[in-house]
Amino acid sequence: MRIIIVNNYEEMSKKAAMMIASQVMLKPDSVLGLATGDTPLGMYKELIQLYSKNEVDFKEVTTFNLDEYYGINRKNPQSYYEYMMANLFNSININRKNIHVPDGMSQDVNAICSDYEEKIKKAGGIDMQVLGIGGNGHIGFNEPDVNFEARTHLVNLDEQTIEANSRFFDSIGDVPVKALSMGIKTIMNSKKIILLANGISKAESIARAINGKISPKVPASILQLHNDVTVILDSEAASGLQI
Ligand code: GLP
Repeated sequence: MRIIIVNNYEEMSKKAAMMIASQVMLKPDSVLGLATGDTPLGMYKELIQLYSKNEVDFKEVTTFNLDEYYGINRKNPQSYYEYMMANLFNSININRKNIHVPDGMSQDVNAICSDYEEKIKKAGGIDMQVLGIGGNGHIGFNEPDVNFEARTHLVNLDEQTIEANSRFFDSIGDVPVKALSMGIKTIMNSKKIILLANGISKAESIARAINGKISPKVPASILQLHNDVTVILDSEAASGLQI
């Protein structure tokens, strides 16, 4: 693991955006795995800036998002699909046909999950996967007591996750209790991974993921076994690390 500690959120976002931009410059038809949440918002802003200065071109890029709430229509402003449109896709020249977010309204869960895996495979696999981390150590929506073997699947959300994500909804009762998520195996098959975390609320899960025992109790700890992970942390998120 390469661990980069920076001073603040802005530097974290800039570094991550530069890594993605270089990936796309070196391989214009890159397949990117993308994350939602507050953490990557600054990185998406930076990428939009780089695009508007003609420094990066997304026309041949393909994307696969990590996850989507189950039972939420993609037109719903709370959907991760809408998040991606609003925070990145509407502002860059990506081909809409190349955007993939699991369909949270699908009735046939098994079919949609295996189709998602098939599409990733057909695209040649994920070149660079961006991850945030949950306060409980989740990546994507792979919650503690995770099955490391799983590929894209339907997940029951942890109480801690429902509570954490209730800030995006009118009330906690509106937060979906299930989600479709790439599995750990899908994530681990990515060629390169960037894990981002900022703020003191992530210090404990980052320390457990990086310094702790590899365990299904801390889903992100499996990243210790991947051969190309870059972790970019602000000083608060890094404050519990022993390095
Ligand atoms: C969410 C997402 C994850 C994200 C994590 C952290 O529930 N499913 O992909 O990385 O929680 O979110 P945030 O960046 O808002 O702290």
